[in-house]
Amino acid sequence: MAFKTVGVVGCGLMGSGIVQVSAQSGITTWVREVDQAALDKGLGRIKKFLDDGVTKGKVAAEDRDRTLANIKGTTKLEDLAGCELVIEAAVENMEIKRQLFGTLDGLLGPDALLASNTSSLSITEIAASAKRPDRVLGLHFFNPVPLMKLVEIIRALSTSDAAFARAQEYVGQIGKTPVLCKDTPGFVVNRLLVPYLLDAVRVLESGIATREDIDNGMKLGCGYPMGPLTLLDFVGLDTTYYIANIMFEEFRETRFAAPPLLKRMVSAGHLGRKSGRGFYDYSK
Ligand code: NAI
Repeated sequence: MAFKTVGVVGCGLMGSGIVQVSAQSGITTWVREVDQAALDKGLGRIKKFLDDGVTKGKVAAEDRDRTLANIKGTTKLEDLAGCELVIEAAVENMEIKRQLFGTLDGLLGPDALLASNTSSLSITEIAASAKRPDRVLGLHFFNPVPLMKLVEIIRALSTSDAAFARAQEYVGQIGKTPVLCKDTPGFVVNRLLVPYLLDAVRVLESGIATREDIDNGMKLGCGYPMGPLTLLDFVGLDTTYYIANIMFEEFRETRFAAPPLLKRMVSAGHLGRKSGRGFYDYSK
């Protein structure tokens, strides 16, 4: 059965994208933010994305209007009580997520699913904060959500077969491609990507090649759409550093250890595109 009503907690970078793709698929989508200012900012981001799409001829004006009409913003968590699935995309903080899951678990109907979009925290640990951990799982979207086709569906130790199957139906309904995975640090994509990105920094750090040659090597030699240092600037050096540290803590393998250059660039505030400077300069 198709999902009719879905909730999203957090309307930041990821939450706003998840709200948009759900609403675009005809699902009534509730979104909860901490206050009206944060909600207005997130909803404004969705409207701008769709308006730009209309200007570029990629989105029909009626589709934009229909999508916006499917979105219901709120600052009250109780307004999400009737949702069949709630996706949490709040800040990456275990305590905040556990509190949210404990509260949502008490609000939602017996058949509803609860998902987290966390990149690096354990879904099993988040699920343990709910009385019904069998209905908790991970739905890991990629940035920018409206453009990226992939969603990793993560099964915690406690997730039921029914909840896991139902989550796959949702991902299909919003037109994304699922990758199924067990709850493990980095899931599939970051497990492979993070050591590769760290190695690119090590190659630069050891003076083997210039940043341009490292990026061109992987673009032209491997057919990657973006070189690793450009990708690091796009993702954010602080985000990568944070995820690498969590993976290193879990696995204790040197390939997940952040190289000193990465740590120093983060300390200097050279975080990539968002700070105007990373491996490349974006100040102009
Ligand atoms: P963000 O900082 O852009 O947005 C987080 C939003 O959550 C903020 O607007 C904040 O006001 C709101 N928030 C905080 N506590 C809340 C609460 N109790 N109720 C409702 N809203 C609350 O962060 P971003 O990048 O969107 O990340 C969100 C989640 O998605 C994190 O868990 C992150 O690890 C994950 N993620 C991020 C990716 C990325 O590329 N940025 C990729 C995939 C997952």
